[in-house]
Amino acid sequence: MGFPKNFLWGGAVAANQCEGAYLEDGKGLNVPDMLLGGNVTTPRTFCPQIQEGVFYPSHEAVDFYHHYKEDIKLLAGMGFKVFRLSLNWARIFPKATLDEEPNEAGLKYYDDVFDACHQYGIEPLVTLCHYEIPWELVKNHHGFLDRESIDIFLHYVETVFTRYKDKVKYWLTFNEINIVTHDLQMGNLYGTGLVEDEDLARTKPCRVNELKVNKQHSYEALHNEFVASAKAVILGHKINPEFKIGNMIAYSATYPLTANPKDILLAQEAMHYKNDFCGDVQVRGAYPDYAIKFLEREGIDLSYITEEDKKVLKEGTVDMYTFSYYASSAVTVDPNVEKIGGNLSHTAKNPYLKASDWGWQIDPDGLRWSLNNLHDRYPDIPLMVVENGFGAFDEVSEDGAIHDPYRIDYFRPHIEAMKAAIDEDGIPLIGYTTWGPIDLVSAGTGEYRKRYGFIYVDRHDDGTGDFSRKPKDSYNWYKKVIASNGEDL
Ligand code: BG6
Repeated sequence: MGFPKNFLWGGAVAANQCEGAYLEDGKGLNVPDMLLGGNVTTPRTFCPQIQEGVFYPSHEAVDFYHHYKEDIKLLAGMGFKVFRLSLNWARIFPKATLDEEPNEAGLKYYDDVFDACHQYGIEPLVTLCHYEIPWELVKNHHGFLDRESIDIFLHYVETVFTRYKDKVKYWLTFNEINIVTHDLQMGNLYGTGLVEDEDLARTKPCRVNELKVNKQHSYEALHNEFVASAKAVILGHKINPEFKIGNMIAYSATYPLTANPKDILLAQEAMHYKNDFCGDVQVRGAYPDYAIKFLEREGIDLSYITEEDKKVLKEGTVDMYTFSYYASSAVTVDPNVEKIGGNLSHTAKNPYLKASDWGWQIDPDGLRWSLNNLHDRYPDIPLMVVENGFGAFDEVSEDGAIHDPYRIDYFRPHIEAMKAAIDEDGIPLIGYTTWGPIDLVSAGTGEYRKRYGFIYVDRHDDGTGDFSRKPKDSYNWYKKVIASNGEDL
């Protein structure tokens, strides 16, 4: 009983949020390189030209690029079995063209990172694209709006699948491919790299929520990403039949705020659109009926879905379903209820839940509920929670330690919820990677102060800090959790 013996305990990061070294060893720019920080109420700022003398959080991030040996050693100290990280596509293909030769320095860097993982028996779990579309793809192809981007992506994928086929077994295609169904502007920019011409021509910065949206383009770019993901799965299985390739969905557990049947319907619609739509395409291999109807109601011309695409989607279904889970939401038809949430998610305030300082409503039972929903929906494939965590303000105490009981208080019931899902509901959960085991830059706000780590990094929003690392109290706690296979919480 309890977690399976070979359960994959670990943590997850994204290249753009931790590596830094944004132009080193031949790397090209990517989307996050063009973004300034915001905060819980102020969206991030975007400008298609890098501004001189302005602080860009991802340019140095937490300098994992130079600290990876030390960092992986620290992760190994917690007993990590798996480390989820992404490849920075523009580090390998800075120009993002079809006939480009890969940048050997970029490839070599990830060889070294994987070797460091294996030295400690840590299995890498690699995201091919985690919100880091090369800027050249944005400028020259409007990200994935151009179908040619599918081939450019596959050129990159073939290169890395072939290069790392004996070092990496677990792969994810696109991080949170459904972000566009949560927030069109963020989804376009982070997810598909779609920036409209008016915004590319900007000479002055704008807030991310001011970016132009053309829904036809947004859904078309998403479709091209579905096709790119399915083709990557097909290709991966040819290159190494042992590969386990997953999708990755931002799972937004959404409840009706009341028992009013109108609220029930609203919640069902939100669950369909925000979670099930993309998951169904990637696991079941076809657009579900409710999604087609939804897109038609939105006035989308779906002629971009070709017969050939339909075959590819059917053939390129994923081997496992992975997802991020942080919080739950509630919806209601009542316009007068109190809302909560930061600049990304606005939800009705659920009176039964507490929220983080960024307005994310903490709900471990929602994780068990989500695992059950997913297994009911996709009974034939395993599940993995590849992001879960608590963004919080941490302080270094006078004794030099970082006491973060609130982080442990967040994780404990979430791990209990997974255990109950396994023991009592029979869920085939194979792994759990907490978000940001080392502090890193927040994707949503670009802040350093929103810290997730078991390991503190001395780096701050004003650009100060010496990048030194220090385990927080939660470090020893998670170490104990892993050592006891989730029994000692
Ligand atoms: C997920 C992303 O949405 O949430 C991560 O995959 C992100 O990249 C994480 O960092 C936490 O969100 P935030 O905005 O607190 O960084």
